[in-house]
Parts: sequence; C-alpha cells; structure tokens
Amino acid sequence: MENTVKITINGHEYVVPKGMILVDAAKLVGIDIPIFCYHPKMKPVGACRMCLVEIEKAPKLQTACTTPVADGMVVHTKSAKAVAGQNATLEFLLANHPLDCPVCDKGGECPLQDNAFGYGQGISRFAEMKRHYVKPIPLSDKILLDRERCIMCYRCVRFTREIAGDETLTVLERGSWSQIGVLEGRTFDSPFSGNTIEICPVGALTSSLYRFRARPWDIDVTTEPTVCSLCPVGCNLNLTVRNNEIKRVLSRENDAVDDGWLCDRGRFTYQFVASDERLTRPMIRRNGTLQPATWDEAITEIRDRIQETLVRRGSKAVAALASPRGTNEEIYLLQKLMRTVIGSNNIDYGLRRHPTYRPLGYDAATGSIAGLERANVILLADVDPIKEQPVLDLRLKKAAGKGAKLVVIGPEKIDLVSYAALWLKVDRAQVTRVVSALVASIVRDSLIKTEFVEARVAGASDVIEAAQAIDLAQVAAETGLTVDQIKQTAKLWAEAGNASALYRRGGAAVGLAEALTDLALLTGQIGRSGAGLYPLLRGGNEQGAIDVGAMPDRLPGQRSVDDASARERLASIWGKPVPSEPGIGGADYWNAVEQGQLAALYIVNHDPVAPGASAPKQAQAALAKLDFLIVQDIFLTETAKLAHVVLPGAAWSEKDGTYTNLERRVQRIKVATMLRGEARPDWQIIRDVGLALGGDFDYQASTDVLAEIAVVAPIYRGITSARLGEVGLQWPRVHATGSGTESLFADDGTRLTCPPLPVGIESTVRG
Ligand code: SF4
Ligand code: FES
Repeated sequence: MENTVKITINGHEYVVPKGMILVDAAKLVGIDIPIFCYHPKMKPVGACRMCLVEIEKAPKLQTACTTPVADGMVVHTKSAKAVAGQNATLEFLLANHPLDCPVCDKGGECPLQDNAFGYGQGISRFAEMKRHYVKPIPLSDKILLDRERCIMCYRCVRFTREIAGDETLTVLERGSWSQIGVLEGRTFDSPFSGNTIEICPVGALTSSLYRFRARPWDIDVTTEPTVCSLCPVGCNLNLTVRNNEIKRVLSRENDAVDDGWLCDRGRFTYQFVASDERLTRPMIRRNGTLQPATWDEAITEIRDRIQETLVRRGSKAVAALASPRGTNEEIYLLQKLMRTVIGSNNIDYGLRRHPTYRPLGYDAATGSIAGLERANVILLADVDPIKEQPVLDLRLKKAAGKGAKLVVIGPEKIDLVSYAALWLKVDRAQVTRVVSALVASIVRDSLIKTEFVEARVAGASDVIEAAQAIDLAQVAAETGLTVDQIKQTAKLWAEAGNASALYRRGGAAVGLAEALTDLALLTGQIGRSGAGLYPLLRGGNEQGAIDVGAMPDRLPGQRSVDDASARERLASIWGKPVPSEPGIGGADYWNAVEQGQLAALYIVNHDPVAPGASAPKQAQAALAKLDFLIVQDIFLTETAKLAHVVLPGAAWSEKDGTYTNLERRVQRIKVATMLRGEARPDWQIIRDVGLALGGDFDYQASTDVLAEIAVVAPIYRGITSARLGEVGLQWPRVHATGSGTESLFADDGTRLTCPPLPVGIESTVRG
C-alpha cells in the first residue's frame, strides 16, 4: 500500500503509516518507547534523549521521537545498546532531581517515576550535592514552579509558543542552571496556562489550588468523565474528587471537541461547589422573611400560589427563565411545565432578544469544531473566541498553523489578528456592509460556483441583483477599506477549497447571518468538513436550550410555535394542547411585569439582580412587583433574596444529564460529587413541581427525560444516554447513521434558500 511502510521492531514486522514518527508507530503496534519531551500535539525537539533506540545501519542510538519510520527500518528498543542509552539518560536526569517524591504532587502519577522504574537502573554513580532552589516560586497566582524538579523537556515553553501562541514562558540562565521562567516584562496570565501543569512530565509545575490537597491513591473518583458547563465548546473533563470535594479538573481525551486542552476558567473554576454558602434547604417567605421549609411545604406553596395566579390572572401571567448552563433534561422539563401545565409559551433561557433569521432553517453551526482544521479560509466576523469560547481559539490557531488563512473583520485587534492573513479593520456597524460587499465582489468578478448554485440554491438571482446595486468604491470609502482589500478577500473566500465563517449568534451586527449565508451559498462553501457557518453561542448549554424549546416562539426540535403540524404532533405526544400564541421573551420580562402582564416568574440559575448583570435595577424593580417569584439556584443570590420560594438545586458536578455544544454535539455529564444538604437535582425539582400541578411528569431518571426529548425533538432522534458514550454525538440523523452528522447539508440534495442580502443602511448594530 502506498501510504504504509513495513518496519521491524524487536524482531516483529509491522505495517505502519508512512512518515509516522517512530515513537507513535511503536505505540500504534503496542510497543512502549519511554518519552519525556515528546508530545503528540507539539513539534518534536529531541531534548531529553529518553526515547533512545537502536536502529540497524544507523551509526549510533537514535531518538525515536524525531525519527520518521522508513520502509525496511529495523528497530531495537530493548537491545543491550538501547537499554544502556535509556539507563544513562535516566541517570543523568536524576543526577540533580531532588527525589522529593513523598511530598511532590506528581508522586504516584509521575512519568519520571514510571520511566525510572521501567527503564532505569535503580542506582546512580552521582554522589555530588544536588542543586537547591527556593521552592516553590509562583509563575502566576495559579501555577507554582519547583525549579529543581524540572527536567528541561521544554513542553511548557513549547506549549505557550506552539499551541497558545502567547510565548509567555522561556528558558532563563544557561547550562545546569537553566530554568523555566516568565519572559521579562510579561506575566504568565495566559487563559490556557493550566495546560502546562498537565503536560509537565514531573512535578515542576503544580496548581496552587491542588498542591498538597490530595494524592493519587487517596482520591475517590479519578476519572469521572464529564463535560465543562462554562462555555459552549463543551470541553471534556475528568474530575479528581476527595472527601466529596473536587480537588482538580483534568482534560479528558475527546480531540474532536477540545483537542485535549482546557482553558483556565474551565480548569480552575470548581471551588464554588464546596462553598459553605451553598443553599441546603428550601425556603419560603413568611411574614416578609425567607425561612427554612421542607420540600413538601415548598412544592405545596408553589402549587397553591401558581394555581391561584392561574385562576386570578390566567396562564399568560406566568413565565419561566431556564438556565443556559442547565442540562437539556431540566430545560426541557421547564418548557414542558410552561406549555402543558401552565398553558403558555412564556419561556426563555436568557434576557436578550433572539435573532429572527435562522440560517438555512437551523439555529446551529453547520459544521464541526474539528472540521475547522480542514478549512483553507476562516472568516471571523466580529467575534473573539478567546473571550467566550476560549478553547475554540486554540483550534483556530491550529488551523492557521496548518495553512488556513484567517480573515478578521471587526474593529478590535483580537488575539487572532496576529495569525490572520487579512484584518479588515472596520467599525462594528460596518461589518455586515463589508460582508455584503464581499458578495457583491463575488458577483462582479464571476466567482459564483454556478454548478452548486444551479443544483442546490434557491433565491440566488435576487441576491445577485441586490449585490449588483452595491457600489464597492462607496463601501470602501465609508468603511476605511480599499476596493482591493474587498476584492482580495472575496477571491480568497471563493477560491478556497473549504471556507468557514464564524460570527456571534444574536451579535450586534444586524443582518450579518444573512449576508454570510449568501456568501456561503453563492460560493458553495457549505456542507463539507471545513466549509460552513458557525454562529457562536455563549452559554454552556445554550445550544441545548435552543434545541429543547426554551424559547417563546420555538418548540422542542427548533420547530416554530406558528407551525400547526408541529404543535399537533407535540400535543399528541404530550396529551395536552400546545399554546399557539408566541410567548413573552426574556428580553421583555421586566417591561411585561411593569405593565402588569406578568404576575409570577420561575427563575432557574439566573441572577439578573446581581451587580454586573445587564440591567440589575430594572430587574430588581420588576421582581419586587411580582405576586409570586420562585428562584431555583445553588446560592442565595441577590435575585433569590427577593423570592417567595427558594429551591436549592444542584451544582454541575452533582447531577447527570446532557449538554449540547456549539457544534451540535450532545454529551453526557455525570455525578461526581454528592448533593449538599437537602438540595436536589434540578430536573427532579421541576418534575416535582410539574407533578404537584397535575402534569404528566412521571420520570424516574434523567435518562427517561432524554428518551422523551429524542421522541419530541426530531433532530435528537436516535440519541440515548448509552449511545452517547463518552465522546457524544452530533445531531441530527443519529437514528439513521449511528454516528450523527458532522456537516449539515452534506450532499443530501436539500435545496438551500438565500436570504435577502442586507445592503446599505440596514447594516448597523443593535443597541
Ligand atoms: Fe518540562 Fe515541566 Fe520543566 Fe516545563 S517545567 S520544562 S514541562 S519539566
Ligand atoms: Fe525523544 Fe525527549 S522524548 S528526546
């Protein structure tokens, strides 16, 4: 076979991929070659010499981490010569190592210990005094360095250069006094700094939060696989738990999502779970003050007060606010409670207005996160992933490293500008105009993919006509660009084998999703891995909230409330009519209270009254006017302090269920720590409220709820907890493919409709 070679390792012949690094080829066939500096995600440097092997016809021992396999190569990893080399490397590495394993965080899970045991001699000829340093020194408030433990593998330095791209770490001093440090004038404040702790093969870099808190042999849960809830990337995690407390968060292998990296927010935000301030009992407001209550009392109070509101004010006077960090199951149950028990579509997951246009019928990215690595051009239209989807930023840097040309359109010099082929620096208000101008340039310069448009696209002629009316010179003059810049960008996009565009769902630039959709459709940049549209979300499970119906005008499965057949189908499953009138959205809740339209509100894990929220004073004034406020949370927040009933819910590590990330991947979260006091999982609380109010809420486990979602929401058809496994699946078509769908509209013959191209004055920003 063309792409493989035959090699012999330790007397056995193997067929391995051509060009593969020897250390990886050996691993592939089950042979362990010891390493320290080598890391499969970074360029080999051959710094530590741990991987020495004997290769026949080579004059001396070779480092397996820098040697690609070649046809006919004969390798010995256990010959006397190879073993002598490995022994010597370890002897040198340990000459200065402090051997403070009993007090080192890495003890028990240390590659240096493992390699010393597996490939060392157990004795040393070095009897000299070892180096001593003041220990540890902080590299940042999160990361400590014990310099004498460092074996100079440069993994940490290379990570900051090659992966994070912030080049914060370097090697200071020379020779045996070399040490890792922060570049002069810099601080180690990278949002990805914690990854260096995980890849350091010794205990030189440790977490200030974890140091001395647990050892590998006394932790309760070492590898509980779960998912981060803090942003919509959905990075995969293992939690280290001891005495029912999360002691640290580690990455878990699911390269398709996070490529093995975590951001510091995901890695270090866990201490709140063990806080003494957590709510542990339900509370009911009695004589003006919140007082502890039993669950029966709290649920009964809710039942009575909601029923009273329904009788007095009707179903439209009740609303709910689901959490975009909640599980699909609890969000689904809250919208079902509103629609089938209360009889209203007054449900939302946030307090912002939703975009009216859904590109090509779906409110979701058409492609996958990993697919971005296959893009030749990536257009970033007024987004800055490092702030809201940090690990996605690393994927984009990786794509740039593989040759993708990044085009940044927007006012800010975002982190990715230094990787970009082009930065079209324009005001936020002009971003849509510039994208429309790209469409115009594509039309003028005959860059339309005619074959694709004829076969798959409807409404192209209207867009072409609108584009022809755009005066490129005028756009250039008004945006501060040149016509050449616009034409060059359009050509780059249209001629790319694969091009993808990222923008903010519901972002400030009005009409941007429409303009980008036209750009993608006229050039056939859709439906392939690397070619697609990515509306970026913010909430950890915002995609799930959209999918399971936590919107005032959308039902589960992203079907419109106006869609009579969708309502009928749901009614037949739920056994209850589904209200046909769109509800009040979160963006209008406070005004609706002020105007007397809303009298009762059920808020799950939101704190709109907190200082720093978007309109805390308006929220406080409105909430104070409600007849009845239920707040379900894990802390007595400023909002909870105003409630009539407070329900203690579960932190993310205390519940099971599913989240859906920004690439439509449904992933499981698992219980890793016990609930606090009498707190309950959120889905159970909503179920109990539903049962008390006479709803059909007979669920025994969260998996029962997921099973119902898979029936109710056709895009989730085929998804079961077991099928999701540990890496999750991308909707839709899981039932048909078993593996889900990486790219929407991939050669499925669907006719795709161009939206009207925004031109001129309507390209502006939302307030
Ligand atoms: Fe390697 Fe750790 Fe030293 Fe960095 S601190 S060079 S990762 S041993
Ligand atoms: Fe090969 Fe370090 S692992 S030289």
